[in-house]
Amino acid sequence: MPLSDADAQKRAAAQQAVALVADGMTLGLGTGSTAAWFVRLLGERVQQGLRVRGVPTSEATAELARSLGIDVIRLDDVGFAEGRRIDLCVDGVDEVDGEKRAIKGGGGALLREKIVAAGSDRVVYIADASKRVQTLGQFPLPVEVIPFAAAFVASRIAALGCEPVVRRNADGSEFRSDENNVILDCPFGAIEDPEALAAELALIPGVVEHGLFLGMIDEMLFG
Ligand code: 5RP
Repeated sequence: MPLSDADAQKRAAAQQAVALVADGMTLGLGTGSTAAWFVRLLGERVQQGLRVRGVPTSEATAELARSLGIDVIRLDDVGFAEGRRIDLCVDGVDEVDGEKRAIKGGGGALLREKIVAAGSDRVVYIADASKRVQTLGQFPLPVEVIPFAAAFVASRIAALGCEPVVRRNADGSEFRSDENNVILDCPFGAIEDPEALAAELALIPGVVEHGLFLGMIDEMLFG
């Protein structure tokens, strides 16, 4: 079956990212349909003899990577204590603006994604053109919250000007992240000052992480 235009763009962006991978690298492996293209193309290179280690940002990505023969390691095994870091992190975005500020977490993996990006020397995100926006915020901002604090945090976020929605699975049950946290999807609309909002969210007790990725992306590749 021929690829949709969006899938063809995702694949093309992933192909550009795979070209940045060198033998022996430790990689951050993102989550979502675009990052999955990267993992699949990486798997092809591994089957041809490329040697890399990958730190997955979700259980889903770990499973995909393993199924393709990619050596999956834990974040703890990168060697941070010895001064080593992840060489290259490749991931997708839900939205990105002209200043490479992004919203992530549509797949619920924002916490591990942000940690893996922060532990990487080079952060390259990939996307189809639909993810490019003038102003962040059309995509509801995911905020990861410890379950104990969900209602409290939702009330504090409501005071910032939006009505958060507790993310649910298709069967209606509460969605839990890989870290067993709740995700609040926050439809802020246009976020004129992402840095100010990020600072406000970080001050709310019970917020584990939010999906504003600011100053983290080194390169943004579009297919
Ligand atoms: C997961 C993410 C994804 O990178 C983001 O949702 C983009 O996904 P896709 O490539 O499927 O559009 O942040 O938490």
